Amino acid sequence: MCGIVGYIGKREAEPILLKGLERLEYRGYDSAGIALMQATPPSPRPEVTGRGKQGGARILVYKKKGRVADLEKLLKAKKLTANSFHLGMAHTRWATHGEPTDANAHPHLSNSGDIAIIHNGIIENYLSLKKILTEKGYKFKSATDTEVLVNLIEDVKKNAKVAINEAVRLALREVVGAYAIVVLSKDEPDTLVVAKKGSPVVIGIGKDEFFIASDATPLVEYTNKVTYLGDDEMAVIKNNKLTVKTIKNKIINPYIQKLEMKIEELEKGGFPHFMLKEIFEQPRSIKDSMRGRINGKTGMVKLGGIEKLQDKLFNAKRILILACGTSWHAGLEAKYFFEELARVPTVVEYASEFKYRNPVIYKDDLVIVISQSGETADTLNALHLAKEHGTTVFGICNVVGSSIPRATDAGVYTHAGPEIGVASTKAFTAQITVLLMMCFLLALKKKTMRKTEAQKIIAELENIPGKVEKMLLKNEAIRNIAKKFKNAKNFIYLGRGYGFPIALEGALKLKEIAYIHADGYPASEMKHGPIALVDENMPVVFIANKGASYEKVINNMMEVKARKGKIIAIITKGDAKAKKIADHVIEIPETPEPLMSLVASIPLQLLAYHIAELNGRDVDKPRNLAKSVTVE
Ligand code: AGP
Repeated sequence: MCGIVGYIGKREAEPILLKGLERLEYRGYDSAGIALMQATPPSPRPEVTGRGKQGGARILVYKKKGRVADLEKLLKAKKLTANSFHLGMAHTRWATHGEPTDANAHPHLSNSGDIAIIHNGIIENYLSLKKILTEKGYKFKSATDTEVLVNLIEDVKKNAKVAINEAVRLALREVVGAYAIVVLSKDEPDTLVVAKKGSPVVIGIGKDEFFIASDATPLVEYTNKVTYLGDDEMAVIKNNKLTVKTIKNKIINPYIQKLEMKIEELEKGGFPHFMLKEIFEQPRSIKDSMRGRINGKTGMVKLGGIEKLQDKLFNAKRILILACGTSWHAGLEAKYFFEELARVPTVVEYASEFKYRNPVIYKDDLVIVISQSGETADTLNALHLAKEHGTTVFGICNVVGSSIPRATDAGVYTHAGPEIGVASTKAFTAQITVLLMMCFLLALKKKTMRKTEAQKIIAELENIPGKVEKMLLKNEAIRNIAKKFKNAKNFIYLGRGYGFPIALEGALKLKEIAYIHADGYPASEMKHGPIALVDENMPVVFIANKGASYEKVINNMMEVKARKGKIIAIITKGDAKAKKIADHVIEIPETPEPLMSLVASIPLQLLAYHIAELNGRDVDKPRNLAKSVTVE
């Protein structure tokens, strides 16, 4: 969580930083702030929020509780001199230590006002460091762990009499926790220092200019040459030169790669929200996830990213899936098809729980971690634990070059394109597409599926984008259903078998963007408790497609109807029986059950979206959430 951005070069830093913040705002939106290096202050000196001695350079800091737009307004009012800042950094915050206030907003200045920092992560030992610094006379204006770090850097710099990059390096050796930081010092107005452990940082390399960001989205219009800092690495940029070294002071050669991202992918393209745009992108994103990887005519499945290690998958006695949130739901859906089609026992664990117990991990397990962002701290930590047990770990991620794919043994990118809306939609269907392809590969190898059977289901998978397209035509009809239920206080989502994870995901979408309580449950479990909630005010969403549990789900619908619950049912096209029972139906085309989630989740995404939008919610940036959860 939190977005950091930095710039050093010949251009005016402020607009680049603000635009970068807008791109990164999905990572947190409790406050925003900017620090600009003023190398030669004009006379008379403008108002500054950071102190600094007369004469030399100084760091101007402006920050504010609220959104990036609030910071932009503040800066407009300050009327900063044009073209005078060529080095700076900015931050958008998701609060961990300390409430969202102006004082807790980043950047933070050291006591002298000479050093400024922005930080994404958590300094776990900040209280003990704060105590030591307080005893030395340091004062703190905020409740943040970050202000402790900037004063620790100042203290080291003062005592060791070293340059800023060395002070950062030495200070970080005393820090326990996760960080991506950018540091500026007024004593070296031509230097930008970056360091990383646990939280992501990418450096964009332009001609005589460098861009820093939490992910590549702020860099895309300036350069396609990037390098990702590794853990315990830092970069010093000075005199147009990038030096990368470890915290232990070993110089390393940065691996520079080409950024594959288009600017249009980062814009709303006429849609009112990114979430709606991303829902509508799914015919394309599912196609992109499959491109060149399967062929229904020949039964070919080829996943280049795991090819070298695919024997680990073929020989696995058990598949262990680790993920959080929506990615966990994709994993749970995969459990059903891995067990049904490939006959491999599959366990799906919340990565956030996995790390903090003593889980049983076998060497011949194949661990699959799933993450859209590739940065989720819980998933990353669970991955490390699995690796400590000597297990092979595959990753399924969307963000290229992020931390999880770099830490796994092998993996498959989902290629869904940047997902900006906090609620995951196209990443979910892309994850399921990749998991299905992995399952087919395994089932073919293990001969639990005949080749002709595989060809048939692969061809069906190739048809899914067309079916999703048809589902999107129901957008207006789904909005009409949403209008009827927008004031409901609670929802229940029910499904059996393959329908159960879809019910969970539908409920999560509604909770996170509409702020309406929703419970996802196996329809079969309804009688064991949740049915007590059903009355004439309770909307119950059923996943009631024609599949193995169809008749049982129909019975559950009857039970809800008998208690006057309001039924919205996702049904197979032309199902007259289900139509008679339900109050509202959304028809989906006939689809083999293992693929059904790819079609059935679309109307649930749209239902949640419209209920949220009709209630005036901030759909793309729901309260209290952030797109990538980089703290545990
Ligand atoms: C999904 O809508 C959520 N915002 C959230 O549950 C998310 O899926 C979870 O935090 C995991 O993120 P990841 O896929 O980036 O690891």
